[in-house]
Parts: sequence; structure tokens; C-alpha cells
Amino acid sequence: MASTSSRSTAVAEANPAQAEAAGAAAAATITVRVARFDPEKDKALRWQEFSVPTAPGMTVLDALVSIKEHQDGSLAFRSSCRMGVCGSCGMYVNGKPRLACQTQVGELGQVIEVAPLPNHDVIKDLVPDLSRTFEHHRAIKPYIIRDDEAEMASPTREFRQTPEEMERYLQFAYCLKCSLCVAACPTAATDPLFLGPQALAQAYRYTADTRDCGWQERFDVIATDHGIFNCHLAGACSEACPKGVDPALGIQLMKRTLVKGPAHRAPAPIVEEPKSVIDESKRPQAPPPTV
Ligand code: SF4
Ligand code: FES
Repeated sequence: MASTSSRSTAVAEANPAQAEAAGAAAAATITVRVARFDPEKDKALRWQEFSVPTAPGMTVLDALVSIKEHQDGSLAFRSSCRMGVCGSCGMYVNGKPRLACQTQVGELGQVIEVAPLPNHDVIKDLVPDLSRTFEHHRAIKPYIIRDDEAEMASPTREFRQTPEEMERYLQFAYCLKCSLCVAACPTAATDPLFLGPQALAQAYRYTADTRDCGWQERFDVIATDHGIFNCHLAGACSEACPKGVDPALGIQLMKRTLVKGPAHRAPAPIVEEPKSVIDESKRPQAPPPTV
């Protein structure tokens, strides 16, 4: 098998112009303007510029890792999965809330500006404080609520739900809790207590689930002063979502549910098992509850 260097030599000999262009691209640099904030020293964000060598496919997160590894180890940012799944790398990149690991620097031009998510307090540099988003999410009771507590604590059967019933909430179940929608929301910008698009869309996700019967408990949380009727339907949340969730739609559907009640008034029934198939002695135990 040919080595990388022998392949490069062959390309250079066959097409010098192409080899020169490839060399120039490899050596290209971009300017990354990064917002810095040290809670012990700073009263406001300050800006610092770095020149970063690029590579094909480089993401904003890669550029920040390069800065941290080669230029300034004190730069603080949050990331984990590097594949748009964990939701921890949300930042304000060139004026839009984005996931840094899903945003390629090649799409952004020669100068890239990276700041922490708006509408959130800043812990340090590019690390936003997401506790308010998580508190609001917790407040809407993001779990299946039923009154058959024994079955919930130790499930013995499946709940019957048709594919059409699952479609009612499925897209909302893809939410990463990245808070990009909250960063984009003009109401959250003026009212920090506003429950926000993430939590309100999740209120619909669970209320629309036919296995759930906790709608009244959620109504009591969202039909309040900083609740659902403070949404002005700007739609910025849905534009910002990196997973294709449409929180603005969820909020509108939840408003309708508040007026008309959920499509299902009783929770989905437990499916009766065929007696010949299941051996009770071999049934695995349900895992302990996580919420
Ligand atoms: S709705 Fe979208 S933008 Fe908002 S927290 Fe969920 S995944 Fe992030
Ligand atoms: S690092 Fe997990 S979504 Fe970006």
C-alpha cells in the first residue's frame, strides 16, 4: 500500500497546480474571536483573537480544542460527545446559537466569533449556566404520570399505543436539552423566569403521550404568570433547534390542549398478555426508577 508521502509526491508530479492549491488549503488559517469571562475578575465579556490553522472538516469545537491545546490552556468551554448528541457544546457562533461540534468552520468565513449562549448566565468563558433551563424542565414533570402506581413502580405489562399516537409526540422526544432554543427566544431575553420553549415543548411531549394522564398537573405549572401565554410566537426557537424539533409548534399545540383538553382523557390501557408465551418466573425485573 502506498504511503501518504508517496501519494503526495505522485500528485505533485502529475499536477503541480493541484498540489499547490492543496498545500495552501492545508496551511490556511482563520481568525477566531472568542469571548472571555472570568467571574473572579471580569464584569463583562472581553474579546480575544486567535489565529488557528484549519483542516478539512474542522468544526468550531475542533478550533476551540486547538486553541486550548496549543495557545491558551485556560480557555473554558463544554463538550462531550462531539457528534451532536449530548447537547453540551451550545454556543453563539457568528450571531446564531449553534452546536459547536456540528458547525464546520468552512461554512463561516475567515473570521469566526464565538460567545456563550445568550439568555443564560455565564460560568466562565463559553460555559453557560444551564441550571435555569433544567429547573424549568423539571418543573413541567417530564415523565409519564399515571395513577396505577404499583404498575409504574414495577411494570408487568406493556402499554398499548398505536404508531399514530406515538407520532403525536415523537419529534419532541428528540430534544437534547441543549438550550439553543432558549438562547434564541426573545421572551426569554426579557423575562428570565419565562418557562421557555424547551420546557413548554416538553410539557406537550408528555401530555400528548397516551400513556400519560398528568395533564392537569402540568397545566397548573404552565398556565401561570411566566408560562405559556407569554410566548409571542416569534418562532426563533424552532429555527435554532439543531435536532429538527419544532418547539413553537409544541407550544401552540399545548395552548390548544389547555383549552380543549388532551385528545385522550384516560391513560393507555395495559395490554393483556397471551398466557402461553410469558413465563413469569423468567421475567426480568424492572430497573429502579431514574426520576
Ligand atoms: S428543543 Fe431543540 S434547541 Fe431546544 S433544547 Fe431541545 S434540542 Fe435544544
Ligand atoms: S459535544 Fe455533544 S452535542 Fe456537541
